[in-house]
Order: sequence, then structure tokens, then C-alpha cells
Amino acid sequence: MMIEKKIYSSILKALPKKNRYPLSEPEINNVDKRIILECLKTGWVSSNGIYLLKFKKKIQQILKNKFIVPVINGTSALHLALIAAKIKKNDEVIIPDLSYVSAANSIKYLGATPNLVDIETDSYSICPKKLEFYIKKICIKKNGFLLNKNTGRYIKALILVHVFGYTGNIIKIKQLCKKYNLKFIEDSSECLGSFFKKKHLGTFGDFGVLSFNGNKIITTGGGGAVICNSKKNYKLLKHISANSKINHKWKFYHDRIGYNYRLSNLAASLGYSQILRLNYFLKKRSKLYTKYLKYFSSIKEIQMYKPIKDSKPNHWLMSFRINKKYANQQSKILSYLIKKKIFVRPPWELMSSLPMYKRCPKDKNINAQNVQKTVICLPSSL
Ligand SMILES: Cc1ncc(COP(=O)(O)O)c(C=O)c1O
Repeated sequence: MMIEKKIYSSILKALPKKNRYPLSEPEINNVDKRIILECLKTGWVSSNGIYLLKFKKKIQQILKNKFIVPVINGTSALHLALIAAKIKKNDEVIIPDLSYVSAANSIKYLGATPNLVDIETDSYSICPKKLEFYIKKICIKKNGFLLNKNTGRYIKALILVHVFGYTGNIIKIKQLCKKYNLKFIEDSSECLGSFFKKKHLGTFGDFGVLSFNGNKIITTGGGGAVICNSKKNYKLLKHISANSKINHKWKFYHDRIGYNYRLSNLAASLGYSQILRLNYFLKKRSKLYTKYLKYFSSIKEIQMYKPIKDSKPNHWLMSFRINKKYANQQSKILSYLIKKKIFVRPPWELMSSLPMYKRCPKDKNINAQNVQKTVICLPSSL
């Protein structure tokens, strides 16, 4: 049988019967609707209100971290994290070539430049070996920082992207950040409910980021949060996310450039209702993952993604990889399944292939190219 037909029949076995199979859709129920209505009745729909407090408290409990600032989306959270990491114009920041565009964009918002490095093929996140090789090849240490010899600019931070809710090579990357004096930011946008060695992703770095976009494990419509590990940075993040307005009963005084990035109470009311069901969403995805494993095990041309040791993922987006011999079949499989209303997708296009980032400093990134061409993400929310 053709490979795409084998995959199609296995997907149908794993999923409940439907007319269409979305990749990752929100599940909004009557409790969500009732809580949103309650929020509307209070009249507190903007940047203050009880649901913001309740939602934040729940995130704090799950992450076991009190320094959480809810914001309007994951992209603004990355932007704020970079500001708090003191990234300025003409600095450079390391990111994986395979990442969502928000990391590169938020670096550019500050007039800084991304450096695009390679990933490892088991976790799809930055490869520590390749990272160190890249650093040694292009940098010298100067004034306590890494100086990129080719551009004459300092590399000040690194963003590790945890891909599809699974843990990146966090311990080794953290050690390298320490060794080379890089601020360590975790893009854990897709990772609410994901743990490594019982510690929530996003809480390992100097800063972490969450997204509550409509396609994520829980949603606030659009929303996100920045996570940090010090009171000082928490205060700073809170301040600049609220237009840098000083606390005063009537005065409108702003002491630095700020951003209107606060999450609304209305959005938080949906988030609060949703986060109460987080365990249900996690269990549902975990069950589906087991089914995919079972039904895909006989297809020799592909391999399901396997989480790294000691991790407990949220299985936000399940994926498989086409084996080397069949690597050129990705488009054929995608188009066949999408025609059948099974909304699979490939990973993001590499940053080095986008017009605004193709001239950034970069390594060869062979693994990123391979993963981009051979991985397919599966419907994951049914
Ligand atoms: C890895 C990653 N980073 C950042 C973002 C940005 O989050 P948002 O869409 O909430 O701005 C997303 C979400 O789409 C993402 O998947």
C-alpha cells in the first residue's frame, strides 16, 4: 500500500469519527460561556478584575512560580522578556533556525539581530554540541561577553524553543548559557502542562514565555504570560507591560517607554475557566498519543515523535517523521491527507528561508533542514 494511504487509515483508527479533523482546536463549553458572561456582568472587561487574579493564581500554582505576568499574547511576552534581559539595538541573540517567527521578530523589534543555529533531531530544539561549535567558530570573549568576530556585535542572549510541547535539551543549553554569559529565555509558548524532571517548562531560564492562543492547550482567545525568577524582573515586566505608568491615584506619569500588553479581564475569564480543565485536556492528548503510537507502529516508513527521557509532555502537537529513504514524500502525504480533511501540517519554514532573516548570521543547520522536510504534525485535539 502507498505510504499516504497507510497513514490515512491509521489516523482514522486513532481518531473519533468526524467530518473533518482539525490540527488543534479550542474546546469551549457551557461553563466557559457562563464564566465569560459573569465577567461581562461585572463590567470589568479590561486590564483589572477578579478573573485576572484568579487566572494568574492558577498559573502560579501549576508552574510553582509566583513571578508570572499575564499579557496579550506569546509574542509580546517574548518582546518583554528580551527587554528585561537588557537586549538593545545592535546586540545579537541566538535562536534555532527551526522556530516560530515570533522569536526572530521580537529580537528585531529591539533593533537586535538573530543568529540562527541548528537543532538536534530527537528534541527538535537547539543542539548543544552544534551550538558550542558555532560559538567557538565565530566568537571571542570580550568584556565578559561573546563578541561575534564577523559582525563586531555582542551576543547577549539565547532563546530555546521547546517544540510542540516537548522538552528541549534544557540542562545542557542552560549550562552553555551560563558558561558564555548569555541570558537564557525559554520559548515555552506551546508548553502549558509540560514538565521536565517534575519542573514546569519555562521556569528553568531567566525568562520563560507561554501562549494562550486559540490553538494552544488552553486558550484566552489571544493571550500569553512572561515568567521570570526574580522579584526585580517581575516588577519590571509588570511595569513595562502596563505602559510604564507609575502607581498613583490620579496622576498619569510614565517613567520609561512602555507597552500596552496587559491581558484583559475578559480574556482571563475564559483562561480561568479553561485552566480548571487543564488536566482533562492533558489526559485527552496523552490518550490520543498512545493511540497514534499503537496504530503507527506497523508503518515502517515513519516514526512517531518520542519525548526525551525524564520529560512529561503535554503532547500539544503530535508528529511523526518520515524515514530517510522516503524523505521526499512529505508534500505528497500532506496534500493527500488535507484533501481528506485531515489537517496535518509541516513544521515552520526555517527562519533562514524567510526574506527578512535570510541574511542573519547562521550555521549550516542541516538537521533543521531535514526535520523541516520530513516531519508532519497530526490532528492533536480530538
Ligand atoms: C513556539 C511559539 N512561540 C511563540 C508563539 C507566539 O505566541 P502568540 O501567537 O500567542 O503570539 C507561538 C504561537 O503561536 C509559538 O508556537
